[in-house]
Amino acid sequence: MTIEHDIRYNDDFEVADFAQIDKLFRSAGLGGRDPERYHEACRRSYACIVAWDGDRVVGLGRLLSDGYVASAVFDVAVHPDYQGRGIGRRIMELLHESVPNSTHLLFAVPGVKGFYQKVGYYDCKTGMIRPSNPEKAAQAGYIEWADCAGADAQPV
Ligand SMILES: CC(C)(COP(=O)(O)OP(=O)(O)OC[C@H]1O[C@@H](n2cnc3c(N)ncnc32)[C@H](O)[C@@H]1OP(=O)(O)O)[C@@H](O)C(=O)NCCC(=O)NCCS
Repeated sequence: MTIEHDIRYNDDFEVADFAQIDKLFRSAGLGGRDPERYHEACRRSYACIVAWDGDRVVGLGRLLSDGYVASAVFDVAVHPDYQGRGIGRRIMELLHESVPNSTHLLFAVPGVKGFYQKVGYYDCKTGMIRPSNPEKAAQAGYIEWADCAGADAQPV
């Protein structure tokens, strides 16, 4: 655990209030996270870093990983009242430190790529995703619907 300024960082999500985490994601514009299911998602993650102001969760980030070569970052969110103070950067550093020599993958929400570039990410020329809902992913700006709408795609 590290302490910087008034913010504490640790992986102690078990003591967090997941209804508060649901509100954090909504306020950060990422949509809600069902508290019970999201608690289980954190348990199944390789790393889940929480930023605390006292007993309030003000930021969070998760990593899925094999603990060796491949890791994927998901759900990095900082409450709007706390953005721009280096909290997102510190969450990313701690996630990376949890598997230091791994390649880390992510897909950013539109408008946030600049943040990830600041913490070491590059555009990937061959990156692809298989969204659970391609139409929704296209509407949200993650994929070009035109790239696949006309294709003779047969999802397996
Ligand atoms: C994106 C987010 C996690 C960044 O967290 P943060 O605590 O505000 O960011 P930091 O203060 O650590 O910023 C680190 C650096 O990234 C830059 N940065 C932050 N947000 C940025 C953005 N949206 N675009 C470009 N650069 C950004 C900062 O200026 C800072 O640069 P510096 O080191 O040169 O000063 C936070 O703004 C957030 O939760 N946004 C809403 C939810 C979201 O979009 N999450 C990402 C999901 S993929």
